[in-house]
Amino acid sequence: MKDILAQIDQKKLPKHIAVIMDGNGRWAKKQGLLRAAGHKRGTRAVRETVEAAAELKISHLTLYAFSTENWNRPKAEVDTLMKLLVSSLKKEIATLQDNDVSLGTIGAINSLPEKAQRELNEVISKTKNNKGLKLTLALSYGSREELVKTVQEISNKVKNNLLSPTEIDEDCINKHLYTATMPDVDLLIRTSGEQRVSNFLLWQIAYAEFYFTEILWPDFRKEHLHEAIYNYQKRERRFGKTSEQIN
Ligand code: FPP
Repeated sequence: MKDILAQIDQKKLPKHIAVIMDGNGRWAKKQGLLRAAGHKRGTRAVRETVEAAAELKISHLTLYAFSTENWNRPKAEVDTLMKLLVSSLKKEIATLQDNDVSLGTIGAINSLPEKAQRELNEVISKTKNNKGLKLTLALSYGSREELVKTVQEISNKVKNNLLSPTEIDEDCINKHLYTATMPDVDLLIRTSGEQRVSNFLLWQIAYAEFYFTEILWPDFRKEHLHEAIYNYQKRERRFGKTSEQIN
């Protein structure tokens, strides 16, 4: 897969790439290590992916770092993930600044430990004027929770006569999602061979291309992102139209 980067068409880049980072636990098991070691090694893959996306001038990258369902994991593992989040934010702020990346989040952020919320706010604030890649961490995120929240907010507006039911269209729903300011996902990547969506961005992936790879997340490197984008560019996106209409 040498030189795949040179074959990427700069004019056909996906605007928004979303990644389900999966396989940390299996990676650790294969090495005879504890799951925590897999998560720790997963942070290297996060750095590589962010750098590769920034270098290619991708506009949006959204990483599924912690789902609403992940709260059901053993407490020790949840604690490890939260600590890793805080230490990675401290350590990687320089990577974000060097690559002109701004940080954002989606999800029920107020359910995270205070320390994690503080660190997130600090990095979000320090990187807010960066003009390159918009990196979004999905934390305590679940697409169904997001949709429930959206329906509740819209219903309240209708109840208070701030919105009429006829004004509820796709655009209105988009504006109430965590992803209000983001374009739809063009490319959804999942590592580790699993082929599931796992409650991630269900509304936003309506027309996304899916790319599944056997690579376990801790082994994911820049060239794997290049490969995924190259593969995406070979597809014909028809958005419900015929092939003739597209060409
Ligand atoms: C899935 O692997 C991965 C996660 C639940 C967490 C992802 C977290 C990281 C990559 C590290 C920290 C992230 C940031 C943004 C600093 P799994 O545990 O489900 O693996 P398995 O399916 O093999 O058990």
